[in-house]
Formats: sequence, structure tokens, C-alpha cells
Amino acid sequence: MNVLITGGAGFIGSNFVKYMLKEHTEYNIINLDALTYAGNLENLKNIGDNEKYTFIKADIRDKKKIEEVFKEYDINAVVNFAAESHVDRSIEEPEVFLTTNVIGTQILLDIAKKNWKLNPQDKHCRKYKAGVNFLQVSTDEVYGELGKEGLFVETMPLLPNNPYSASKASADLMVRAYHETFGMPINITRCSNNYGPYQFPEKLIPLIINNCLKGNDLPIYGDGMQIRDWLYVTDHCSAIDTVLHRGINGEVYNIGGNNEKANIEIVKLIIEALGKSEDLITYVKDRPGHDRRYAIDNTKIITELGWKPSYTFEEGIKETIKWYLDNTQWMENIVSGNYMGYYKKMYKDVDEDGR
Ligand SMILES: NC(=O)c1ccc[n+]([C@@H]2O[C@H](COP(=O)([O-])OP(=O)(O)OC[C@H]3O[C@@H](n4cnc5c(N)ncnc54)[C@H](O)[C@@H]3O)[C@@H](O)[C@H]2O)c1
Repeated sequence: MNVLITGGAGFIGSNFVKYMLKEHTEYNIINLDALTYAGNLENLKNIGDNEKYTFIKADIRDKKKIEEVFKEYDINAVVNFAAESHVDRSIEEPEVFLTTNVIGTQILLDIAKKNWKLNPQDKHCRKYKAGVNFLQVSTDEVYGELGKEGLFVETMPLLPNNPYSASKASADLMVRAYHETFGMPINITRCSNNYGPYQFPEKLIPLIINNCLKGNDLPIYGDGMQIRDWLYVTDHCSAIDTVLHRGINGEVYNIGGNNEKANIEIVKLIIEALGKSEDLITYVKDRPGHDRRYAIDNTKIITELGWKPSYTFEEGIKETIKWYLDNTQWMENIVSGNYMGYYKKMYKDVDEDGR
């Protein structure tokens, strides 16, 4: 199998690339990433010179390049992680969220369709090469927010509240449309908040760990009572692997570990683990449109596909904190911007902000 993983230099993508190389030693893994500010080749350093692994610096919006990659590597599965992923950035600059998350996904779908359809010239042909699949990595944020009770189930309407989640919901609908209109083999996974090694320090857990270590203020939005359902990143990887191999064509699967925590609870837990003071907590004005609560009903993937998470939150957060303590240089290189200097040397067309 030749698997195209897009966005494989980011947080979850890089964990998934390594997971796949370990679990499926016979697969060829092609990692395509534009190396925006969030893509970091240091995340993949320990792969070494594995001959089953190829890295391609490219943008999912670049049709010509994507065409070439499909031809050259005879791609038969796509796992699409590539996205702008930070809600705060989507509030500042929504446009790139539409071009990457929506148009980029549509370009990948279209090129996959052309390459996989048995008769690409016939618009009524709904037959595809055996074993091909397009897996769209989505988020629970597409469902909008929950009240105090209830869980997200796959059949709920999509009611996204911010430009990031709206772009992810639009991409989900486009993936669904390619399945309904063209009969394309697809799956969509909608996962809750991930945490673990290699997460860019603009996100809550690495940000708080880094600021604690530096003795800097810990900025908390609003009252800190926003509830998220946390999943350790390798559990997300194993769930995607499960859907890729056992998912029913056309189905959507929620992924989550039943770990609801308020942001402030997580912050206090990290402060305690690092022996710091709660005086560092600084409450700041809440993010506009900040959803109060997300929580996943994971019954479908558990009962129909036999997946289950292997980390409790307590185990996962312990490993995560340890990883950031053991890898302070990784964090330093990001915070100082050094990793961008490395790209500039390697890939001369990367701009100041990494786009
Ligand atoms: N982080 C979470 O908690 C979470 C939860 C559920 C779903 N997701 C989804 O998982 C995926 C990965 O999330 P993440 O947290 O690893 O994100 P990330 O921001 O760490 O990584 C995104 C990667 O995509 C690449 N990329 C961005 N634009 C690109 C483009 N136009 N062409 C090619 N590559 C491009 C970046 O360089 C980066 O390597 C996203 O689709 C996100 O919506 C994330």
C-alpha cells in the first residue's frame, strides 16, 4: 500500500507517520507537507533513513504537484491531516483556512478521483480501483458546542461556530459530496482535543508547560471553564489506522477517550506536576465565539470497529509532561524561530512566517 499522508510534519501527522512506519513496515509512506509555521521536520528526525518513507515539500492547493505525486508514487490511500488548525489564527485571518482546509481538500479529492476511478472519462462510473480510500481527518468542533449535558454523535447536524470549525465542516461536506455524487470510497473521522509530544506551543498544554518552565504568566481565556474531551495523540493514530483498514465505506466515526476536563483543571494539574505556583495564572478576555463544552460519544468506533483508547488521561498527561521536560531544545528551537532558519537553508522559498 502506498499511503499519502498530508500535513505529516505537524503535531498529529508526525505522530501518525511514525505510528504507520512502525505498525505497517511493508507500506510506503509518502508525507506531503507545505511546512507552514506549524510544520516542523524536527518532529520526524528519528525516522532516520527508512527506505519506506518519503518526504515531499508541497502544498495541497498545488494541483500540478499533487497530480505528479499520485502518478509517481501510485497512491492508493490518502490520510488528509493538512490544515490550518488554530482557532485563534482563524479569527485573525480566516481566508487561509478556506483555501487550505476547503479548497485544498477538494483538490486532493479531485485528483484521487481521477486516479482511482476505473473509467475517469465516464461521469456515471462509480467503480474504483480495489482497496483505495480517502480518509479525512476532522474534528469534533464541527458539531458546535454542547450544553452541560449530552455528547456528540455522528448523526448530529454540523453547527460550527468559528472560522476554523466552519472550514473543517465545509471540508467534511465536500468529502461526503464526493462519496454521494461520484461514489468515491471515503471515511471521515472526528476527534476530540489531542495532546502529547510534538504539539506546537500555541496550543493549551505545551503553552502552559513552556510558560511554567520559564516562570511566565499563564494566560487563561475567560473563566477557564471551557470543557474539552482530551485524547492522547497515539490513541488518535490507532483510531485512524483502524478506520483506514476496517472503516465501512462512506461512514463517519467519532474518536474520543471520555476524558472531559475544564481548561483550568488542566492548567492547575500542570502547575502542580511542575511544582509551580497558581499565582502565574492570568485570566484574559475570552476568545470571541468560544465554545463552552465538547464531548464525544465514541460508541460507534468501539462497537463497530473494535477500537479502544489505551491511555488514561492520568497516564497520557504524565508522559506528555515528561516528554516536554526531556525535549526542552525542541521547544526552544520553535520559540526562538530557529526551526524556520533551518527550512530557509533547506527550502529557499519558505517566507518569514513559514507560509
Ligand atoms: N490538534 C487537535 O487537537 C485536533 C483534534 C481533532 C482533529 N484535528 C485535525 O487534525 C489535523 C492535524 O492537526 P494538528 O494539530 O496536527 O495540526 P498542526 O497545525 O500541528 O499541523 C498541520 C500541518 O499541516 C501542514 N499544512 C498546513 N497547510 C498546508 C497546505 N496548504 N499544504 C500542505 N500542508 C499544509 C502544516 O505545515 C503542518 O505540518 C488537522 O486537520 C486538524 O483539523 C486536530
